[in-house]
Amino acid sequence: MNYDDTSAYQRFPRSRGYDLSWVIELGMGPNPIWLAEYLSESITLEPGMKVLDLGCGKAASSVFFAREFDVEVWATDLWIDAESNTQRIADAGLSEQIHPVHAEAHSLPFETDFFDAVVSLDAYHYFGTSETYIGNVSSFLKRGGEIGIVVPGLRSELGDEPPEHLRPFWYWDFWTFHSPEWWWRHWDRSGKVQVHTADWLEDGWRYWMEWNLLSGDDKKAPDEESQMLNGDAGRNLGFTRCVARRPLSHDDEKWPTFQP
Ligand SMILES: C[S@@+](CC[C@H](N)C(=O)[O-])C[C@H]1O[C@@H](n2cnc3c(N)ncnc32)[C@H](O)[C@@H]1O
Repeated sequence: MNYDDTSAYQRFPRSRGYDLSWVIELGMGPNPIWLAEYLSESITLEPGMKVLDLGCGKAASSVFFAREFDVEVWATDLWIDAESNTQRIADAGLSEQIHPVHAEAHSLPFETDFFDAVVSLDAYHYFGTSETYIGNVSSFLKRGGEIGIVVPGLRSELGDEPPEHLRPFWYWDFWTFHSPEWWWRHWDRSGKVQVHTADWLEDGWRYWMEWNLLSGDDKKAPDEESQMLNGDAGRNLGFTRCVARRPLSHDDEKWPTFQP
């Protein structure tokens, strides 16, 4: 399969500027540059902004945000050490603009009210499904700043059982996949942020499959994920995007009586 024959090539024009073998080397799941481009369509990113890229993996998305929007990025991850990301960032010529950080999402080493934006691609579902996490992470945003995520998700919630055709492929942790409505409610009722976007990437499953073919993942994992995605054909699986703003003052929060 040639990249320029894919539907993802048409859908994500900014991503065309990134060498495919570089993205394959740095990506740790579905193409992080495509996901970053999708997120960038709904979140405000302006030159000089301070951005936390949470769960950045090998920092491909951090490079994308720094290059495309001229923002300063704190590329933060748990499984990938800061030293190896330092090298990757230097190789991209962005050492002045991207700061690698090794940290766990629940104990972030930052000042509160510091960032203009928090972004997270294919990572937030690993640590952000508890009720309390949005209150924790949003405290690092300036008032009026935005948080945006793109995660593997479900078109709508499934209840207690996966559909028949997904059962042979279902890993227990797929229960961290959720619908746009679920994420909207999960964040919005906390009152810590005001959600303005919670939606579904049309044809996301197709881009995910194309990525598996382009990156050779279907060969490594005897085609299991591609079989699952192909069999599902977008009925359930794909990508959820959610973007919210931190209220301008404590009194603008939904539950201003609650002071942690
Ligand atoms: C599937 S990888 C995606 C990485 C990268 N965003 C990408 O798309 O290539 C998930 C990332 O989430 C990060 N992660 C998982 N749990 C975390 C936690 N508790 N704190 C910080 N990062 C975490 C991992 O370190 C990993 O790099």
